[in-house]
Amino acid sequence: MKLICDFPSPKSLPDKYVLPPEKRPCNHELQGDLSVALPVIDLQGALGDGRRQVIGEIMEAGKEFGFFQARCLVRFIAMHAVNHGVGEDVIQGFREAAAEFFRMPAEAKLKHYSNEHNKHCRVFSGSVTSHTDTNDIRYWRDCLKLRCYPVDKLMHHWPSQPETFRERLAKYAVAVQELAQRLLRLIAEGLGLDSRFFEGDLTGGETMMNVNYYPRCPDPSLTLGIRPHSDRYILTVLSQGDVSGLQVKHKGRWIGVQPMHNAFVVNFGLQLEMVTDGVLTSVEHRVVTNSAKARMSVATLIRPNMGSRIGPAPVMVNGETNHRPKYRDFTGSELIEAYEATAGNREALLEMFRIHHAK
Ligand code: OGA
Ligand code: NI
Repeated sequence: MKLICDFPSPKSLPDKYVLPPEKRPCNHELQGDLSVALPVIDLQGALGDGRRQVIGEIMEAGKEFGFFQARCLVRFIAMHAVNHGVGEDVIQGFREAAAEFFRMPAEAKLKHYSNEHNKHCRVFSGSVTSHTDTNDIRYWRDCLKLRCYPVDKLMHHWPSQPETFRERLAKYAVAVQELAQRLLRLIAEGLGLDSRFFEGDLTGGETMMNVNYYPRCPDPSLTLGIRPHSDRYILTVLSQGDVSGLQVKHKGRWIGVQPMHNAFVVNFGLQLEMVTDGVLTSVEHRVVTNSAKARMSVATLIRPNMGSRIGPAPVMVNGETNHRPKYRDFTGSELIEAYEATAGNREALLEMFRIHHAK
């Protein structure tokens, strides 16, 4: 039981992190030949008269990525949000505290180590999500995973060291939650729905956070930091820092997302894809490692109320005459089980909830 960041700098990649050849990143994917600047959504305008324009930009972001626009008003795979209202001091303050967490001595971090998925706060290593990873493939990532919002209810679970950690995380979690709520209001409007459409059960679960730490890797061509997956819940707001590594799948190819200082990468989860009956797509993404620099990212995942039944919103389905829902209803625990069973594979998971209508 060890974290990768505590390995004495290895000269070569330990065997268990070596992926089978078909799962490794190709050389051209590592060299960053294929990289994009995501559409940038400047949220400053959304505060006042520019609201409609920002919503329009969110929709444009979809076109820029060339997604087929069927009955949808908004479809995009991911975007950068700037002027998002989360102060640079809040972002950098928490990032510094989190980096310091990973620099603490091994014992201080391992106090939090656990492979039990229902823990409110835990450290683990090597695997993206799943204990059901049958062939024991390991990935080059350490992770501090915790529930971060509502803050008052959850903060006593968080690491108390380094000393600044709790206070800075509290500030960050509140600010990112507000940002996510603003984004969801804009997205609802862009979909032609009431701006409060996502409030309540759809976003009322405890927000999760992955603080991902990818140490320098002896051989990025043999491994990945996180396997290809779609996020499972509603919306993910990611601070990827200034080191590249995140790649999104676009038209069958892996494309690097260039870091943008202080911006957030925003992407949708599988649950949102199903709630909107496929109008919004959850983008598949993965992380490649880096031999020169360690990388740390902070992913904040907005979740629905786990106890309630989730299914395509009637308003999305009945918008067209005779339109029948693509997905069936499910509970939070059903989704979690399906996610474990499919290791976050988008197509496989969606298939488990798809309704096959007779023609
Ligand atoms: C995640 C994730 C991406 C990154 O935590 O689900 O996809 O850049 N992280 O670390
Ligand atoms: Ni992810």
